[in-house]
Amino acid sequence: MDGDNKEKSNLPWIEKYRPQNLEELISHNDIVNTIKKFVSEDRLPHLLFYGPPGTGKTSTILAVAKQIYSPKEFNSMVLELNASDDRGIGIVRENILSFASTRTIFKSGFKLVILDEADAMTRDAQNALRRVIEKFTENTRFCIICNYLSKIIPALQSRCTRFRFAPLSTDQMLPRLEHVIKQEGVNVTQDGMKAIVTLACGDMRRSLNILQSASMAFDEVTEDNVYLCVGHPLRKDIENIVQWLLNSSFTEAYKNILQLKSAKGLALQDILTEVHVYVHRIDFPVKIRIHLLDKMAETEYRLMSGTNERIQLGSVVSAFQVVRDTIVEEAAA
Ligand SMILES: Nc1ncnc2c1ncn2[C@@H]1O[C@H](COP(=O)(O)OP(=O)(O)OP(=O)(O)O)[C@@H](O)[C@H]1O
Ligand SMILES: [Mg+2]
Repeated sequence: MDGDNKEKSNLPWIEKYRPQNLEELISHNDIVNTIKKFVSEDRLPHLLFYGPPGTGKTSTILAVAKQIYSPKEFNSMVLELNASDDRGIGIVRENILSFASTRTIFKSGFKLVILDEADAMTRDAQNALRRVIEKFTENTRFCIICNYLSKIIPALQSRCTRFRFAPLSTDQMLPRLEHVIKQEGVNVTQDGMKAIVTLACGDMRRSLNILQSASMAFDEVTEDNVYLCVGHPLRKDIENIVQWLLNSSFTEAYKNILQLKSAKGLALQDILTEVHVYVHRIDFPVKIRIHLLDKMAETEYRLMSGTNERIQLGSVVSAFQVVRDTIVEEAAA
């Protein structure tokens, strides 16, 4: 066990703390219970897992596989394919077909083919899979995993039992994070913990990554340290930015924000997301709020396509300026 621990000590925490069995998986109780029932009755159907990143899809099927097969059988009974492999029709014809069609010598029962990140598979490959799944149902089970259900052709969807992995809630993530914190002896404040969970948005992988990098960079993981570590604007930065947008002249606001942005290495997109929350809170007249939100949405869209941040910043500051002018004009009228 000692050797085992040592071997694991330089792994990133997301792998070090990958749940090894179904008991260790947080949340998704109904999914886990249903699958357990399938396994214990030896009636596993073809599975389709879908949902956002870091919610435990890959971990769940690996845990199931570990429960079904002994370590010795694992390699001969499980075929795991993911995005690093070729996703064309060739892989279906060659690897999957030859794996599924060889007879199992050591074990009766079925083999398991895990198609991770299947949304990257071409349509042709998915179509080819339809026949393969049907033909080898007797001795092979498939588990298709994806982020976007819509990228899986309906014919494949209908051959599988579907499970949706929802983003994890704060209550679900906290105990697991606390477990890791205890194991690693990290010093985390209450606020720091809250910041990690907020930034992770239901993605357990992200929360562990943030925790690890923050704990490596700082002795104590506090709210500010977490935000600094991921380069996310601090609450007081956002408060300043909103103040400038609402009260300073165009030139002043633009200059100040640009300065803060480059001093702290902030992304305009993150600033926009946070300022957006404020806009909802400030008591603007409805028409003005709608106009502003629309402008901000447009800027965000443009940023996504890789436009110049300075120009887009100008556009955000102008949107606020226009809003302020309108309010003044309407008050005067
Ligand atoms: N439900 C969970 N319980 C415990 N740990 C989890 C859970 N979900 C994710 N994790 C942690 O996050 C890491 C990544 O999880 P996993 O690979 O299962 O995500 P995924 O749903 O397959 O994501 P992706 O869609 O990006 O492939 C795991 O190694 C584990 O440390
Ligand atoms: Mg995965």
